[in-house]
Amino acid sequence: MMSEPNPHTNHGLEKPVYDPAAPSAIEVDHIVKKYGDFTAVDDVSFSVKEGEIFGLLGPNGAGKSTLIRMMTTLIPITSGKARIGGHDVAKEPNAARRMIGVIPQALTSDLDLTVEENMNIYAKLYDVPAKERKKSIDELLELVDLIKWRDAATKTLSGGMRRRLEIARGLVHHPHIFFLDEPTTGLDPVSRVAVWEMLGNIKEHRQLTILITTHYMDEADRLCDRIAIVDHGKLVALDAPAALKASVPGSNVIEAQFENPPANWEQRLHTLDEVTSVQHEGAGMYRVLTGNGSRTTTQLVEMAVQSGVPVKSLSVQNTTLDDVFVHYTGRQLRDELQKAYAFVMPQRPGLQP
Ligand SMILES: Nc1ncnc2c1ncn2[C@@H]1O[C@H](COP(=O)(O)OP(=O)(O)O)[C@@H](O)[C@H]1O
Ligand SMILES: [Mg+2]
Repeated sequence: MMSEPNPHTNHGLEKPVYDPAAPSAIEVDHIVKKYGDFTAVDDVSFSVKEGEIFGLLGPNGAGKSTLIRMMTTLIPITSGKARIGGHDVAKEPNAARRMIGVIPQALTSDLDLTVEENMNIYAKLYDVPAKERKKSIDELLELVDLIKWRDAATKTLSGGMRRRLEIARGLVHHPHIFFLDEPTTGLDPVSRVAVWEMLGNIKEHRQLTILITTHYMDEADRLCDRIAIVDHGKLVALDAPAALKASVPGSNVIEAQFENPPANWEQRLHTLDEVTSVQHEGAGMYRVLTGNGSRTTTQLVEMAVQSGVPVKSLSVQNTTLDDVFVHYTGRQLRDELQKAYAFVMPQRPGLQP
């Protein structure tokens, strides 16, 4: 289910409440992939609701691309099932394929063609009728902010622009379900943000369910309605980013400054639920450690209002998805990435990202 675009939100990326009763676009049921004795995907189940942006988050080698390849009919499933738009990918691969657009991990646009030619070739490949082709291509190039580059040779584009071209190209046949495998890996931070904004734009204009893989925590947090954390082929956690963060005990810091707090204020802050320590830092400033930042903040504000103590400033540092990853896997994702390979896309100075 798609919510109405709201001009006050982050490009349509507001995170709707997960509705288990909504129809599923993707259903993965006890899916397994074995390569000989090695289990790359180990009994993974989840479903993605229509209109959701669903993230698969995990280090290199976790099994993200293997999952995508199975869901998109590119490799056979060892056991278990995947249904795309209600079609079993093993039994009705062609029906499933008609529902989807896929952006693989590696860049695949043809460097010797222009931007528009790359789009046109795909439109023809997918039998987009000639009279609709131009309209669809114009609309998509507009959405990914490449309209003025339509006649540029693809080899002159920056990595970020090339990625945006490939995303536009992947939508030229109006798929309902869009799979993107690490669309921002190797991009500089500015280009990464451009890709997020563009995905938000696209979601405002098209009825789409998006499944995206990434190993960037901030990206998953900002983009995804729900996130599945995968590690060593297994699904270790699945929920909305905020719920995942709330599921990790401890480590929220609230910094609050009050006007003329009473003498026993420090002790009273200590009585709030899940507070583990309170430090008075002078000038009415208190630093409160809690296991539940949002609950403690609510209680703290209520207590201040009831006691007639004005709150001058308040900041809460939330648990990040990095903390969530450590909690569920026992490791830092960052450490894993340092060991891993990363493909680097060509960056051409002088061009916009
Ligand atoms: N064709 C293959 N043959 C053997 N092992 C493979 C093959 N493809 C992937 N793997 C292994 O499966 C695991 C998961 O890989 P992959 O799905 O690419 O992970 P991710 O996309 O999360 O980085 C890795 O250990 C990888 O080496
Ligand atoms: Mg991969």
